[in-house]
Amino acid sequence: MIKFDNVAVHYGSNKSETTALNGISFEIKEGEFVTIIGKSGCGKTTLLNVLGGITAPNEGHFYFQGKDVANFNDKELSKYRNEKISFIVQHFALIQNFDIMTNICLPLKYRRNKNIPKKSYIREVMEKLGIADYEYDYPYPLSGGEKQRVAICRSIISDTDIILADEPTGALDEENSKNIVNLLMELHNSGKTIIMVTHDLELAKLGNHRLEIRDGKIINEEFSSK
Ligand SMILES: Nc1ncnc2c1ncn2[C@@H]1O[C@H](COP(=O)(O)OP(=O)(O)O)[C@@H](O)[C@H]1O
Ligand SMILES: [Mg+2]
Repeated sequence: MIKFDNVAVHYGSNKSETTALNGISFEIKEGEFVTIIGKSGCGKTTLLNVLGGITAPNEGHFYFQGKDVANFNDKELSKYRNEKISFIVQHFALIQNFDIMTNICLPLKYRRNKNIPKKSYIREVMEKLGIADYEYDYPYPLSGGEKQRVAICRSIISDTDIILADEPTGALDEENSKNIVNLLMELHNSGKTIIMVTHDLELAKLGNHRLEIRDGKIINEEFSSK
């Protein structure tokens, strides 16, 4: 489904250039639970941004379903970003002056009435995640765990094949971390392709495809069957 072929990403101009990804190659098959581990600054977020169609490689190629994403036109790229991929980011990316329901429905805004879930379904998912009472509340007073569940709810209802999670438990205590990881496992078991960046070695073990990155390169790749 996904293929990186010698992808490199550099930031900045020639003199003060940072190489965030330095020739990365790997493939992801549909339905995998991929975990990515590595020290801060090694290029994990950059890798997710390439996967999300946000950052284009400076060298090499990123293929989605056999097509080079660099050749996507604007329409194909926004379709990819909105309908194929959803992001659960480190700091939840909730908009402070929108209520929780509006925040959850943000990715649906760009869908022109296609694949729009019913409000009743959205409420059902909120219920399951324990955030149903916050529908009309604003993000500010919610705890970290609650905000992260809002972000996960947004990802679930946008029903994309691929879910990218950037240290989704980084700001949470152990119990909330467990809940979030269990939710991601459930999504994986329902057939979604999950790609999760984490600092936590124990969490990384949950993946059935594990990548370790150092200085913008893959230094270890492991698979385990279920
Ligand atoms: N927008 C940017 N401009 C310049 N340098 C950046 C930018 N984003 C990341 N970097 C640099 O690229 C490297 C990789 O960053 P990042 O992908 O965020 O790593 P990680 O998520 O593993 O901490 C780091 O050295 C970081 O400072
Ligand atoms: Mg990061």
